[in-house]
Amino acid sequence: MRSRLRTALATLVIACLLPLIADAASVQSPDGRIRVDVDVNERGEPFYSVSYRSATVIGASRLGLRFRDHAGLDSGLRIADTGQRVSDNTWEQPWGERRRVRDAYRELTVQFVASDPARGFAVVFRAYNDGVGFRYEFSDQRYYRDVAITDELTEFRVATDATAWWIPGRAWNRYEFVHHESGLDAILLAHTPMTLKLRNGVHIALHEAALVDYPAYVLDQRRDGVLKTDLTPWSDGVRAYKATPFNTPWRTIQVSPDAVGLLNSDLILNLNEPNKLGDVSWVEPGKYVGIWWAMHLGLATWGSGLTHGATTEEAKRYIDFAAEHGFAGVLVEGWNKGWDGDWFASGAGFSFTEAYPDFDIEAVAKYALARGVRLVGHHETSGHVTNYEQQLDAALDFYERLGVRQVKTGYVADGKGLERVDEDGITRFEWHDGQYGVNHYQRVTEAAAKRRISINSHEPIKATGLRRTWPNWISREGARGQEYNAEWAIPNPPNHTVTLPYTRLLGGPMDYTPGIFDLLHQGPESQHRVQSTLMQQLALYVVLYSPIQMAADLPENYERFPDAFQFIVDVPTDWEESRALAGDVGDYVIFARRERGGRDWYLGAITNEQARSVKLPLDFLRDGTRYRATVYRDGDGADWKSNPYDYVIETLDVDSSDAIELELAAGGGAAIRFRAVQ
Ligand code: NOJ
Ligand code: CA
Repeated sequence: MRSRLRTALATLVIACLLPLIADAASVQSPDGRIRVDVDVNERGEPFYSVSYRSATVIGASRLGLRFRDHAGLDSGLRIADTGQRVSDNTWEQPWGERRRVRDAYRELTVQFVASDPARGFAVVFRAYNDGVGFRYEFSDQRYYRDVAITDELTEFRVATDATAWWIPGRAWNRYEFVHHESGLDAILLAHTPMTLKLRNGVHIALHEAALVDYPAYVLDQRRDGVLKTDLTPWSDGVRAYKATPFNTPWRTIQVSPDAVGLLNSDLILNLNEPNKLGDVSWVEPGKYVGIWWAMHLGLATWGSGLTHGATTEEAKRYIDFAAEHGFAGVLVEGWNKGWDGDWFASGAGFSFTEAYPDFDIEAVAKYALARGVRLVGHHETSGHVTNYEQQLDAALDFYERLGVRQVKTGYVADGKGLERVDEDGITRFEWHDGQYGVNHYQRVTEAAAKRRISINSHEPIKATGLRRTWPNWISREGARGQEYNAEWAIPNPPNHTVTLPYTRLLGGPMDYTPGIFDLLHQGPESQHRVQSTLMQQLALYVVLYSPIQMAADLPENYERFPDAFQFIVDVPTDWEESRALAGDVGDYVIFARRERGGRDWYLGAITNEQARSVKLPLDFLRDGTRYRATVYRDGDGADWKSNPYDYVIETLDVDSSDAIELELAAGGGAAIRFRAVQ
């Protein structure tokens, strides 16, 4: 305990070890609203509970771990020691939703031991004003030197009935599902972040932070209202292989009196370790276009031949378009060998350094650099991790030599479909979110950092705030993205993008790829269409945070609406500050963000299938400054289904004392640029 405290933060830390007393302990958030209580029952089973403004949020919930070859730490325990400290500091994000992040909490460490005091662990709780994090900590122990964890008992006993927004865990399509909105009782297995609205209106979100070298967990509802962590197993059934000393990831409970408060919470980032990469000025937020949507529309193919999308000529056309409109990058998918045939079946055939003959990658990369644009790399693995890892160094060296600074990766394979060839040459199939997957994504990120390359993982492990520690893990997918609005899928319904900020994006940035302008690409009769108005596509750039944002449509479709396209050209992707202003889960959401290093503000508002009008005070603007607002809004007759292209662009002069009335059409949105004029 004492050595833990000695190595603690250099910032304001007031440490006070409590005397060796208690069989119960508690800690409160700095504002006193959130309280965590910890105790053991008569069987020596450890428990914790959480309250918000004196009302229980998480009732008495179990803690503990079980092992394959060692005695479990689940009962027969007592509290041997407790300690508390307080910390309050502010740190800077190299890129992000806001430059400065306040990290203020009170911490409680509870040392649990068995009758043999050589057996035990500490559980460290941090109470913040916006929620709670806790994790298990194992010191360098003789007894638990190498352990195979078979179960984590951590529970979240939700205190009241609740509405839940969730996607199924342990399912074939990883995280790519439309969220259910249901009573708590409908949940069997659910991924995190999972968001709940309790009977008294308090919103909570269950998730985890700093998921490193450990499996992700899904929530398993064993008994009514009791959600148990279910660690994703290896193919041999073990959940995690660990060696002491180690800490588990933080188990997190964000708590807010309303839905919007969740959007303004920095809990997940604060529970991650500071930047380990030092100078990361080479990590470049920005916008990109790419040879991408054409394949999803079936107009071109990833495979080679007459319909091949990734040709030298086509890449140059995109580069010209990017240069003309100020986009930083051009993604090219399908340039490398391995896409011919059924790449869904196995990624064993992918080469990450050999191009198809009609794609001169050297010439394309050079052409891009000469025009002030960079090629964005692509590594689709189809889940064959061993094939990818065997080529990883060569693949990243290759891109580094070409001046590539960002690589999108992909793991198209069903859940439990990551292919691993083990030491005996036997192919094993692993989950994307098991310890094997977690460690693989991490290896790629760290190998890329050595080459000053940033990673945008598709079919990723869920986001748990690791961008703070490795800022080159710049974005990821990990939910149903825009791709589902293409020719091959059932589209995202209008309540999807108004659910994502309150669920998936609580974990971190998402590469949703907004900005489809040809909303009816298969014609008005087809079900394959985008279920939004054109204006909502603009608003998504502000609402769905990512430091890299794609302008996902074909250049020719942007040329049809140059006035609306101007917003995509103007909107930044890196912010000085961000504020969620209004919204409700699955209904609507409004964000305002100020550009990094500048005075201009941008606003994005989107709604679900219901039209709504929202009166919004502009008090986030700087007092005493006049702004010229360019408003991109749904026209009076707009409706995602019947009239998605009806829009109005108008300018207004405003300041912080004004209010505006936003009229959002069904499936609609509004985007505003506030240019500081004096
Ligand atoms: C799925 C990704 O999400 C998508 O963006 C990509 O185009 C395909 N895989 C092919 O790699
Ligand atoms: Ca995907």
